[in-house]
Amino acid sequence: MISGFSKLSKEDKIKFVSTYFTDPGKAVSILKSFWHKDTEAQKLLDEFSENTLSNYFFPFGVAPNFLINDRFYLVPMVIEESSVIAAASNAAKYWASRGGFKAEVISSVKVGQVHFIWNGDKNRLQRHFTEIKKTFYLNTEPITANMIKRGGGILSIELLDKKDLLEGYYQIFARFETVDSMGANFINSCLEEFATSLKDYIRKEEDFQGSEKECKVIMSILSNYTPECLVRTYTDCPLADLGMFDDGDTPETFSWKFERAIHIARNDVYRATTHNKGIFNGIDAVVLATGNDFRAVEAVGHAYAARDGNYRSLTHFSLENGHFHYELNVPMSLGTVGGLTSLHPMSKISLELLGNPSAKELMMIAATAGLANNFGAVTTLVTKGIQRGHMKMHLLNILNHFNANEEEKIKAIDYFKQYKVSFNAVRELLENLRS
Ligand code: MEV
Repeated sequence: MISGFSKLSKEDKIKFVSTYFTDPGKAVSILKSFWHKDTEAQKLLDEFSENTLSNYFFPFGVAPNFLINDRFYLVPMVIEESSVIAAASNAAKYWASRGGFKAEVISSVKVGQVHFIWNGDKNRLQRHFTEIKKTFYLNTEPITANMIKRGGGILSIELLDKKDLLEGYYQIFARFETVDSMGANFINSCLEEFATSLKDYIRKEEDFQGSEKECKVIMSILSNYTPECLVRTYTDCPLADLGMFDDGDTPETFSWKFERAIHIARNDVYRATTHNKGIFNGIDAVVLATGNDFRAVEAVGHAYAARDGNYRSLTHFSLENGHFHYELNVPMSLGTVGGLTSLHPMSKISLELLGNPSAKELMMIAATAGLANNFGAVTTLVTKGIQRGHMKMHLLNILNHFNANEEEKIKAIDYFKQYKVSFNAVRELLENLRS
């Protein structure tokens, strides 16, 4: 046990942590080697979190040629998996010459709840709810004033009886519009004010008697399940325009296999999970690059995928009137102002690269990156298979694992144009080159 760790200076924290390593000096120097050379920039990064020792680098790249609603984007992506940006770029280019992607935000409604226990007469609570709600709106005015000016605010407030789940359990279920911010702080501040107002009202109201005056608030928090905060993105083209595929498949053969691949992903949970993981390869990379909360985006995406009780794929395929149509519907709550988005120098760069989009536009871009990555993955899977390309992309990682120098890397890349990449094959090649 250690107490007061967070109060130590950064140097002392590192000194303490270094005792966990066989070579403390080396650990300290690695940690410090990733400090930003600009002390102000480092201070900013340090203060994003607690107990910061250093920075953990991920590659920041771009996928060009994303044509979305007739506008080209250069999409910033932060991802460590070698083939993700390549897959997104290939799919984006492929679709750019076939009309691109069309996207729309169906709604951007967010949700928050106050969970409370009250063991009184339900009818009485319901009768007073209109008055209680008025106090909610009134008491949150200082919080909502700015949001209302920006076009957002509280959209609705309901009282829900949840006694079938737990004795005396009710919810205040509120819906919010937070415009270009993700709105977590706004929503949580409103909810905590609702909770205080609710307790005060019940305590003071003469109509409530004895134990009815007691309302126990369990918690007030936004819900990351925002099924209404939904974006739709799709590609569509005449079947013949798909062209020939790498392994010689015609559009007909390809789409026959593609349709079955999507059907399997819809109905088999093992495949659905991997299929959706491929979608989130693209979405998360954009969400991270723009300083948004990828855990929230993942959580709602997967919960939504299981909304009918079975976990299913998030994409839909149809082939009607000779048109190949591939679509993704995914909920996500993103912001382009507030939070890390306006603080992290790299998320600011990402947003500027995208032309400083609104939150809705960013939702469309992130979802489209997801669809592009998934289209790329499924296309490769049903044609030439994933490993050839994947291992080619992974080759540099394996070479770096063996500390290959530049000359060895050039020779290896050339050699593996003809041969299958594997860990052992790379080791053998390097042994030969080195002997
Ligand atoms: C790898 O990160 C993602 C894939 O497994 C996705 C898929 O199988 O659809 C290639």
